[in-house]
Amino acid sequence: MKYWFLITILVLQTNAWSHSEHKHESLDGKVITKVVSNRNQQVYVEINNAYLKEVKALFKKSCFNCHSSEINYPWYYKVPGVKQLIDHDTREAKKHLDFSKDFPFLGHGKPLKDLQSISKQLTEGKMPPLRYAIMHRDESLTDVEVQIIQNWIKSSIEKLNNE
Ligand code: HEC
Repeated sequence: MKYWFLITILVLQTNAWSHSEHKHESLDGKVITKVVSNRNQQVYVEINNAYLKEVKALFKKSCFNCHSSEINYPWYYKVPGVKQLIDHDTREAKKHLDFSKDFPFLGHGKPLKDLQSISKQLTEGKMPPLRYAIMHRDESLTDVEVQIIQNWIKSSIEKLNNE
């Protein structure tokens, strides 16, 4: 039974690996860290305040394990070969989007783009990735939680557009 689990993880993680490797190419392998010089802008502060109140806990539950520096490693992290795959996954995830420093998020996208991208991923139900959701059912977002995040994104995008 245990071995089945491991084989499943390996297969899923390996698939994931080739998938993100593909995406990786479009980034030229560069880690692009956004310089948040206008962090004090009132509108960012407002968006971040709402984020801290309504959304952060949900991301913490469901996304931080890959998209932040706060990672709780699962028991199977110690399994030979799995560590490399998970490390690769989290490195890749953070390159795209890093929630560690709240809003505006770090990664390669502009704040507006990040919000649109998160909204899209949630609508399509692609995040957290399936390979992960299977092992972490209790970390999946409920429909209500997804709606809370979507509402926050919608009102944040309106704020940014009125900037
Ligand atoms: C198991 C690790 C993992 C978890 C958990 C996870 N992600 Fe991801 N995420 C990735 C990886 C790897 C990528 C980059 C490659 C890809 O798109 O598959 C990514 C990409 C993304 C992107 C695309 C960023 C861009 O380039 O525009 C968004 C948005 C995103 N994740 C949002 C989320 C949200 C929101 C959650 C929580 C609900 C979440 N992710 C949970 C691994 C994860």
